[in-house]
Amino acid sequence: MDKLTGQPRPSLLGVSSALFLLLFFTNILPYSPFTRPTVDASLLSRCKSLKTPAGPPANFHSRVQSDRFVPGTRPTLIKNAKIWTGQDNGMDVIQGDILLDKGIIMEVGRVAHNGREGSNVLDAHGSWVTPGIVDLHSHLGVYSAPSLEGSEDGNSIKGTIMAWVRAVDGLNSHDDSYNYSLAGGVTTSLILPGSANAIGGQAYPIKLRRTHERTPSSMLLEPPYQINSSLPPNPSHIPWRHMKHACGENPSSVYSDTRMDTLWAFRDAYNKASQLKKKQDEFCAQVEAGQAKGDFPDDLQWESLVDVLRGRVKAIDLDALVRLSNEFKFPIAAFHHASETYLVPDTLKRVYGRSHLKYSIQASNAFVGHPPAVALFATNARYKREAYRSSEFAPKILSENGLTVIMKSDHSVLNSRFLLYEAQQAHYYGLPSNLALAAVTSNAAETMGMGHRIGYVKKGWDADLVLWDSHPLALGATPQQVFIDGIPQIEKPHIHKKSAAFQHVPKVPDFTKEAQDAITYDGLPPLTSSSTTPNTVVFTNVKSVYTRSAGAVEASFFVQDESAYGVVVVRNGKIICTGTESACLTNSVLDDPEVIYVDLKGGSLSPSLVTFDSPLGLSNIDQEDSTNDGMVLDPLLQNLPKVLGDDALVRAVDGLEFQTRDALLAYRSGVTLAVTAPSHRSFYSGLATSFSTGSSHKLEPGAVVQEVTGLHVSVRHFGTPSVSTQIAALRRLLLDPKGKWFEVLEGRIPLVVEAHSADIIATLVLLKREVERETGNRIRLTITGASEAHILTKELGEENVGVILNPARPFPFFWEDRRILPGPPLTEHSAVTKLMEHNVTVGIGIQEIWDARNLRFDVAWASLEADGKISKEQAIAIGSINLENLLGLDVQTEGSDIVATMGGDLLEMSAKVVGIVSPSRRLVDLF
Ligand SMILES: *[C@@H]1O[C@H](CO)[C@@H](O)[C@H](O)[C@H]1NC(C)=O
Ligand SMILES: *[C@@H]1O[C@H](CO)[C@@H](O)[C@H](O)[C@H]1NC(C)=O
Ligand SMILES: *[C@@H]1O[C@H](CO)[C@@H](O)[C@H](O)[C@H]1NC(C)=O
Repeated sequence: MDKLTGQPRPSLLGVSSALFLLLFFTNILPYSPFTRPTVDASLLSRCKSLKTPAGPPANFHSRVQSDRFVPGTRPTLIKNAKIWTGQDNGMDVIQGDILLDKGIIMEVGRVAHNGREGSNVLDAHGSWVTPGIVDLHSHLGVYSAPSLEGSEDGNSIKGTIMAWVRAVDGLNSHDDSYNYSLAGGVTTSLILPGSANAIGGQAYPIKLRRTHERTPSSMLLEPPYQINSSLPPNPSHIPWRHMKHACGENPSSVYSDTRMDTLWAFRDAYNKASQLKKKQDEFCAQVEAGQAKGDFPDDLQWESLVDVLRGRVKAIDLDALVRLSNEFKFPIAAFHHASETYLVPDTLKRVYGRSHLKYSIQASNAFVGHPPAVALFATNARYKREAYRSSEFAPKILSENGLTVIMKSDHSVLNSRFLLYEAQQAHYYGLPSNLALAAVTSNAAETMGMGHRIGYVKKGWDADLVLWDSHPLALGATPQQVFIDGIPQIEKPHIHKKSAAFQHVPKVPDFTKEAQDAITYDGLPPLTSSSTTPNTVVFTNVKSVYTRSAGAVEASFFVQDESAYGVVVVRNGKIICTGTESACLTNSVLDDPEVIYVDLKGGSLSPSLVTFDSPLGLSNIDQEDSTNDGMVLDPLLQNLPKVLGDDALVRAVDGLEFQTRDALLAYRSGVTLAVTAPSHRSFYSGLATSFSTGSSHKLEPGAVVQEVTGLHVSVRHFGTPSVSTQIAALRRLLLDPKGKWFEVLEGRIPLVVEAHSADIIATLVLLKREVERETGNRIRLTITGASEAHILTKELGEENVGVILNPARPFPFFWEDRRILPGPPLTEHSAVTKLMEHNVTVGIGIQEIWDARNLRFDVAWASLEADGKISKEQAIAIGSINLENLLGLDVQTEGSDIVATMGGDLLEMSAKVVGIVSPSRRLVDLF
């Protein structure tokens, strides 16, 4: 939740989530501007062209140079690579070399010579190469970063049907995201208008590379001829066009329409377009009969929808859009967001015309007569009613039903720099590795109608490649270099070597039963533990045990050798023995008839994690107020009702709700403790609380772990009140404390301030010094958000101010956090490593409640990009002990929960959480 606007951060009105469709279609009018045919001949040619299919010219692959080639670009020979080509349904892997020249891939395999004259030669030393990452759903450039009112160009709100507006006309070539997304390997993105409208306008594929022209037009990939005028630039080549349709809650909410109104808007628009098409067809029939009178009937407003009807298309009202496609006879290329499609796979197959579909000239049979692809997030879910039944198993289920799965970013809803992470998670939850990679490369390219030139490492295709530092599906995979049109995109890449363990497809757990349950329970499978026991539980085949010890995490048991895996015996929720079978499996254990054995298959026990900074426990469905605790009143912005008194200190604990789906999912992912502050939109928040994510209700022992943890405020560029007004309020509250502010002043609870700008953080440090000087007390100050904290590492270290980075991997959402430290490959350090180097206590937070479950991967990632500077133990501490210290939890080494993982440790993608050992609740939960 964005604290500035109450929207998911960033606040992209209407962008974040409706389901929408994407249309591909032929265009009309391909006659040559260079000849002056007689009127009849030109009309004949125009009429004939109405039947021309969209797509590249038949001889496209005989090209010797790309239309995007930049003269002067040196050829590049990449030697000794492991190449995932995208061919053979993503199964084809070649060991060899790749020669890039003239903007295209010239050779793949064994290249005997040393490239061409003047070649750069790059030895990959066996590293993985894939096609560039392709993002089928992005708002990069139309909702720019940092977000400024002057660059929110992604949505016209002039009406429900806006088929005639074009994303390219709103494209900002100065979005900071270009550099960052490139650094994540993204080479092509389809830029869509937002979803405030039923039909939001035309979308455009762009390549993210900086061009000499620096214009939006020069970034377009195969722009449709309509881009300049209604004259076709090249009659032999009618490129695909793209149209955004949204039929979910977003258009409805913007126009206070119901979904019935939205569907009528669609039918009305398509009815108009179909009347125009009929006129054109009748006119052309006369032309062909040699009796045409007047001009070809056309209309700039409706021509694009006529093109939809002439070509091929795509829709929560999935059922409703499928009906629409059949009523007006257009096919659908892809359903985006489509959170619930996995529950109705057969509906997708009923879309009009699927037996006639042909998405590209490449003989990729998979796309002929194929039902629409489904574009999804991996675990971003439940943010609105229509996404409530989303499942992390949807990619697996849809692919098992023969449907094409695409993972997309909806940038900047998710930072497209990490689009590959969506594929990694989809793979973790059961999507086969070949399809997971195809979901962000070849299949995304095909669905976009660009599969003839991007999405594959293949002779004749565009020279868009990524050389990775690990297998691309391994968590934390980072580009060593990214090529677009043969041009290396990262000037001075900072490459960290990854070990051999990361160079193959990661092993992942088996989620067959969980996926089946998602279907059985109509998207809402039970999430509570399958058994809870105070009795003896014996974990066998244990590879490692990590424990808390004196403010740190240490490996108290670790064996490499499979035959020496140990056992851990737990009774009453307490570990009573860790070691060999002979030491731990005493007669009292062996004779106990109720003992439960759990084979961890090389797994681990480790401290559980702590989640902070989302409204977890106060929110069910972000965009539905009636499911949430709501926002606090801000004394800086309004007079508080008298009944609250003048220092009303709101306590999050009083609004807590237990057993929300996101809390239970967090629990099942080893995040057993949450710290949550009252939800707020401006300066004032209140007193945070901590609770157990696995408890059933507040009265259960151990459910509320600590009623009050710290006092929380935000100091940000809200506009009103000013930053200086917010600081003035803080100064007054600290120097003239009332109620709980005494405890802050005396250092008994921390003051936790959300601040992003280095200038605001510096001001807070000065305020802390001032108050300490005036009062002689010591204040515990923690900064959260902290995008720019890396600029002040030394000072924060000296002042003993801790930092909770949120998001874990930075993004310049607003002006106040534009100076991020992006980390490899752009910078040597990440914010985490730089802060830790100066002894700043670092934690990692999350922004939205669905993300709580992913903390284990966030901390693992922090360690993976640290080039050995952050150990596994330190990474676990970043997600547990450090957060407890920074947020004011009285840490109880003895009473803290322990996570049992099967098939690996908590930070590994091979591992699945199978149990929680809870000493304070004296039980073991098994899933
Ligand atoms: C993007 O990267 C290029 C080259 O590395 C650099 O010149 C440019 O300033 C960067 N732009 C931004 C907005 O960071
Ligand atoms: C549009 O016009 C510009 C020059 O004004 C030209 O360079 C470009 O190729 C044209 N694009 C198309 C698709 O015709
Ligand atoms: C951080 O702490 C270590 C150990 O106490 C110390 O040796 C080191 O100098 C400190 N580093 C900084 C930058 O203060």
